[in-house]
Amino acid sequence: MQKLIIKGKKKLSGKISISGSKNATLPILAASILATNVKVKNIPLVKDIFTMIELLKFIGLKTKLNKKKNFIEIYNKDKNINTLAPYKLVKTMRAGVLVLGSLLGKYKKAKVSLPGGCAIGTRPVDLHLFALKKLGAKIKIKDGYILAEAKNGLKGTKIKFPSISVGATENALIAAVNARGTTILKNCAIEPEIKDLISFLEKMGAKISLIGRTILIKESKIKTSKINHEVIFDRIELGTYMIAGALLAKKNLIIDKIDTKIIKSEINILKKIGVKITQKKKSVIIKKCKRLKKINIITKPFPGFPTDLQAQLMVLLTQADGISKIKEDIFENRFMHVPELKRMGAHIIIKDKTALIKGPTKLTGAEVMATDLRASVSLVLAGMIAENRTIINRIYHLDRGYEFLESKLKNCKAQIKRV
Ligand code: EPZ
Repeated sequence: MQKLIIKGKKKLSGKISISGSKNATLPILAASILATNVKVKNIPLVKDIFTMIELLKFIGLKTKLNKKKNFIEIYNKDKNINTLAPYKLVKTMRAGVLVLGSLLGKYKKAKVSLPGGCAIGTRPVDLHLFALKKLGAKIKIKDGYILAEAKNGLKGTKIKFPSISVGATENALIAAVNARGTTILKNCAIEPEIKDLISFLEKMGAKISLIGRTILIKESKIKTSKINHEVIFDRIELGTYMIAGALLAKKNLIIDKIDTKIIKSEINILKKIGVKITQKKKSVIIKKCKRLKKINIITKPFPGFPTDLQAQLMVLLTQADGISKIKEDIFENRFMHVPELKRMGAHIIIKDKTALIKGPTKLTGAEVMATDLRASVSLVLAGMIAENRTIINRIYHLDRGYEFLESKLKNCKAQIKRV
């Protein structure tokens, strides 16, 4: 089992370039089943993406991944298509459930493993199935699999999600592209990753409009010509490195290959805490800040503060003056990083779904354990500001979603190594 060893208190300087978004790439790869010939650029070379590519190959698509230039070409000749997403692939990469909408819409049937829960929560898919049933799918759950079919194809209709779900919005959107007639999805998630998926589907010929939280999909003919798409940058990776800069920038930490208009809300919150941020169109410059002010945050669907940055923000708030509050309002169990941070000296107590973080607190290095993707990166941030050495175990969680994390940080003078 690999570990990360971090020597704390090393100031950061230099430049970090942000990779493509894992959470935009995954639904786009799932939607590529609908097309014939696709080239997706700026994809992050992380475990979850490799697993999704495995799944596409298992289904019968041909893929050519260029690791040097971060792009993949995907061909669907509609030959020997296996409309099955097996447990072995979906269990480690829950987003595998996103092929359900493609397979059902294009091949009128699908057998997809229930993704099951993960460390941060039970992660149900009831909202996905609710939407697909509304589109006319017959759905059964048997032996841990979702058996879906739509003998006469899917039929457009009006669907109002009872609660906001990124994955359910994506699955319904992808399925509706192949439905007869018009579909109106209401109370949708509208994360930038979903807008990127919409622009990918439009290149395929889909007719989609997004107004507020409503997405309208008109019946359209899917093109068979080649589709080129470049995935947006990873705003969660960006937020993570902005927090690293706020904690440890020597003078300036430059972060580029981004689009600052997408992350206005995160930038405003960091500025409110006192982080010095200079914004350019394609980059930000983070300056070390003296005093950090406490803040109260509730995680919300976009454009609110993202749950995927909650653990990272918590580390920053251990260095803020006074008692900050973070309410985790999206997932039921996303505070697993707290016991580990407390072992490093953080003063955090949890009441109901709210963490109270007292700062500023000196953290000291310890041997800790990663539990989920974003919690693991919060332990990296904590290790970088702590005295002495921190050892992080189970870093396979990190490898699911952060491309070249060590080398990006080492290039900015952090002392971090994988053993
Ligand atoms: C996506 O997960 C992201 N994953 C998550 O990022 C992210 O944390 C989450 O959206 C929220 O922003 C990908 O995009 C691959 P949801 P998803 O459906 O789609 C409940 C990471 O770190 N819910 O918006 O699974 C659910 O339990 C990952 O990159 C239902 O009740 O999130 C949760 O409480 C972690 N029924 C809430 O909705 C459903 O059918 C939001 O979940 C679906 C979800």
